[in-house]
Amino acid sequence: MAILVTGGAGYIGSHTCVELLDAGYEVIVVDNLSNSKEESLKRVREITGKPVKFYKADLLDRQAVNEIFKNEPIEAVMHFAGLKAVAESVSMPLRYYHNNITGTLTLLYVMQLHNVKKIVFSSSATVYGNPHTVPITEDFPLSAVNPYGQSKLIIERILSDLYNSEPGWNIAILRYFNPTGAHPSGRIGEDPNRIPNNLFPYITQVAVGKLKVLNVYGSDYDTPDGTGIRDYIHVVDLAAGHIKALQKLNENPGIVVYNLGTGRGYSVLEVVNTFSKVTGINIPFRFAERRPGDIATSFADPSKAKNELGWTAKYGLDEMCADAWRWQQNNPDGYK
Ligand code: NAD
Ligand code: UD1
Repeated sequence: MAILVTGGAGYIGSHTCVELLDAGYEVIVVDNLSNSKEESLKRVREITGKPVKFYKADLLDRQAVNEIFKNEPIEAVMHFAGLKAVAESVSMPLRYYHNNITGTLTLLYVMQLHNVKKIVFSSSATVYGNPHTVPITEDFPLSAVNPYGQSKLIIERILSDLYNSEPGWNIAILRYFNPTGAHPSGRIGEDPNRIPNNLFPYITQVAVGKLKVLNVYGSDYDTPDGTGIRDYIHVVDLAAGHIKALQKLNENPGIVVYNLGTGRGYSVLEVVNTFSKVTGINIPFRFAERRPGDIATSFADPSKAKNELGWTAKYGLDEMCADAWRWQQNNPDGYK
């Protein structure tokens, strides 16, 4: 039996493929390569010494997805495929809603047709909007301020309605905090297409000389040093959380939701300083206006995942910096 990994050529998907293969699962990837390269899967094979079957297909293409389910003994799905750039989602809402929501609906229809009823879904801490307090637990109120976040909320709702309508589904919704870092081998990592939106890839591109200076968005937040605080989580820890969630689905839990974070927040300046300490590279920065839609502080209460999945993050900020830097240094132009 095999696990279908949608979006498996992407950043988090490729790291999860490694963990799945290391844990002895057979892995099938479907990806349209809209935000990734097939090279990532070659490297997954190289790291693990195991095969990965790859289908280049779009989740919007129902026939193509159906063919995969006809050909392969799929037992469960890990659903990473989606568009994820917040600012782009504001300028192209239809593209984001169509890709993320219709893509998921198509996948769920085909799963239903083939009686495959186990799915792990990539949600985001963005569904908590601006939380009234921290740490954030899974029962906090949900809201979204941009089409990307809305698409995650809507998919969570679709999954819940599907579960309520039809017996037999087992669904794990994983709300990631801020995934970062790379595989310690330095062979796979995050490979943004354009100028990075997120803090870590921006810092590593400054460090490697591709970008000149980091803009620190906001210096007047209600935080100890005035810069935004986030719960950064090493992508290898995140991937390990998916294996635990998959194992949980075998216990017939119904629909379950978990925060995947470390439970510890760091400010932008703490990240910059830690990166410099770990790598010995100074990161020039300047303070800029707050980025629209940003919040002051977000970090998880990860105790539900600890208690119910037996999962906790092992890596700290030092490892995230060291591994992100190793990947960037060894692959200054990503997979190109
Ligand atoms: P990514 O862009 O690296 O990976 C997503 C993959 O999905 C890409 O390889 C892309 O080519 C593929 N894809 C997109 N639309 C597709 C479609 N219609 N059909 C087939 N393939 C398609 O992103 P990532 O960082 O690995 O994120 C994976 C998932 O986790 C996404 O759903 C994202 O929204 C979610 N997430 C990411 C973060 C983060 O910070 N990276 C945080 C929270 C949640
Ligand atoms: C962003 C998205 C969020 C998404 C998450 C993971 C926004 C508003 N939010 O979260 O929906 O789920 O990525 O993909 O885009 N920062 C800088 N300079 C930079 C980049 C970031 O100072 O060049 C700061 C930000 O203001 C923030 C922190 O660094 O305080 C982290 O930013 P980022 O990595 O983009 O993650 P989030 O904003 O938490």
